[in-house]
Amino acid sequence: MCGIVAYIGSKEAYPILIKGLHRLEYRGYDSAGVAILNKELHVYKCKGKVAELEKHTLKKEVSGTIGIGHTRWATHGAPNDVNAHPHFSQTKNLVIIHNGIIENYATIKKELQKRGHKFHSDTDTEVLIHLIEDIYVNERVELAEAVRQALTEVIGAYAIVVLSKDNPDELIAAKKSSPLVIGVGKGEYFVASDATPIIEYTKDVVYLEDEQIAVIPRKGKLQIKTIRNKVKPPYIQTLELKLEALEKGGYPHFMLKEIYEQPRSIRDSMRGRLVPKEGKVNLGGIKEYERKIINAKRIVIVACGTSWHAGLVGEYLFEDLARIPVEVEYASEFRYRNPIIGEDDVVIAISQSGETADTLAAIELAKSKGATIIGICNVVGSTIPRTTHAGSYTHAGPEIGVASTKAFTAQITVLTLMALRIARKKGSISESRYFELINELDQIPAKVEKVLKKNDEVKKLAKIFKDVKNFLYLGRGYAFPVALEGALKLKEISYIHAEGYPAAEMKHGPIALIDENMPVVVIATKGTSYEKVASNIQEVKARKGKIIAIVTERDKNVKQHADYVIEIPETDEILVPLISVVPLQLLAYHIAVLRGCNVDQPRNLAKSVTVE
Ligand code: G6P
Repeated sequence: MCGIVAYIGSKEAYPILIKGLHRLEYRGYDSAGVAILNKELHVYKCKGKVAELEKHTLKKEVSGTIGIGHTRWATHGAPNDVNAHPHFSQTKNLVIIHNGIIENYATIKKELQKRGHKFHSDTDTEVLIHLIEDIYVNERVELAEAVRQALTEVIGAYAIVVLSKDNPDELIAAKKSSPLVIGVGKGEYFVASDATPIIEYTKDVVYLEDEQIAVIPRKGKLQIKTIRNKVKPPYIQTLELKLEALEKGGYPHFMLKEIYEQPRSIRDSMRGRLVPKEGKVNLGGIKEYERKIINAKRIVIVACGTSWHAGLVGEYLFEDLARIPVEVEYASEFRYRNPIIGEDDVVIAISQSGETADTLAAIELAKSKGATIIGICNVVGSTIPRTTHAGSYTHAGPEIGVASTKAFTAQITVLTLMALRIARKKGSISESRYFELINELDQIPAKVEKVLKKNDEVKKLAKIFKDVKNFLYLGRGYAFPVALEGALKLKEISYIHAEGYPAAEMKHGPIALIDENMPVVVIATKGTSYEKVASNIQEVKARKGKIIAIVTERDKNVKQHADYVIEIPETDEILVPLISVVPLQLLAYHIAVLRGCNVDQPRNLAKSVTVE
């Protein structure tokens, strides 16, 4: 989603802003822009990628040591040059960049229009900067005070940076329900919507809290106050993020790099937590809440997208091992349907980014009803982990490709550890089964490594199927969420329509779609439903569908009926999602590349969905 980067210091701002915008590209966007102040306020913006913006500014004046930059993901108004940020105020003395949505912008706009304000774009953002200027000019207050007063009038979400021609030595930033982080360098400051554009310059950062305003000076100390005018001393944290983690490391795309990172990211998710020799699973982050989980009347998992699919695996795990009833909810549905939730419920919120607006709202709702909230997030220091009572980070490292891959397997790893820990504490799992599972979990990174060796086989399949219009993905039990995830990966990045279905449910609808042009990917690994899935395969074959089966090594039965097979190592049934999703990620990746799609930044999608 929209990205923010800003700089104030003694260096040239433009290269820092452009580099920062490139780093933010992964969030998904459709236009980009910068504003640089050097006596004059120069604003350049255009539809399309940051590279277009660079072309656009080639022979333009871009020098200056203070500036702001933005990548926009359209909400109010089409993605075009005019709606792109930054936006000017009425007099063109102020400019703003904004992430989020000002919900009452239409009312404010009408008022301002009555007072002679003229608007050029369809955006809510332009309204906000006009409002700020209106206060600034009419109330004759300092800029930060004008921003503060304006923000008391708006309803909605914002992360903003304001730059003013009259104040060449300061930036004003503020946030509510949309993240904003300030990098504290030596004699310079950076502002960004996440830490990725900052870490190559400084690791010292301040995360602004909701309804805080920062006055960021060229020289001197950062000042923070709330929109209720309370001064807050800045809390500087040191990030551990490494720059290499944000780069492609020789891979053609971030997505492929991240698929290949999975043996390591799964291992990192277990590091220090799974100690097979001692028969231990430790999750320090939830220790104080273990009793609460064990005694929970119910666990409700809230999430969106891929994280919701991980949640489904979590449902199977917790019910199977810990014998606690689980419901998995789309956060966006949960938050608006007056759910029955109370003090005996434990809510597990799963989110890669830790910023998803719907998941955050679902958490707030459940919290207000007295439920205990446990987070499973990847981005350290993001909003969700700061909002939950307790939680466990996934430690997958930064995920840049919009289509989630390593975050999904890391989420499942953490869910597996949690379910095992709780089950053992509760006594709902036998010792032998517990040891069997922890030893097998320890083998998973090596097994994923083996699956990655199938890359060329998967690529061959991609060549065969790259031009089809539809795909069906089937699985049962633990493999059902994997079928959903496989289908989601394909549609996200290749734009081929794909559906995931429980294999047996196919006969209640999707079977009508099957003909000789329909590829059907079936996860048919060894386990309780193996025979049943084999029968589902026969049903597809009888209608001439093309079967691509993911099978366990040395499988004989399914192989006879499938058109194509990818073998994966044998593992315990409950751990199958961790390895069976890998060939499906690779299949989606290769098909998308062969179709010439932008794999890392698919059209219309955003990495971090900070609006509802
Ligand atoms: C977006 C991303 C998905 C992600 C979903 C939930 O749609 O493109 O990859 O699964 O948001 O995001 P979260 O950060 O909460 O896991």
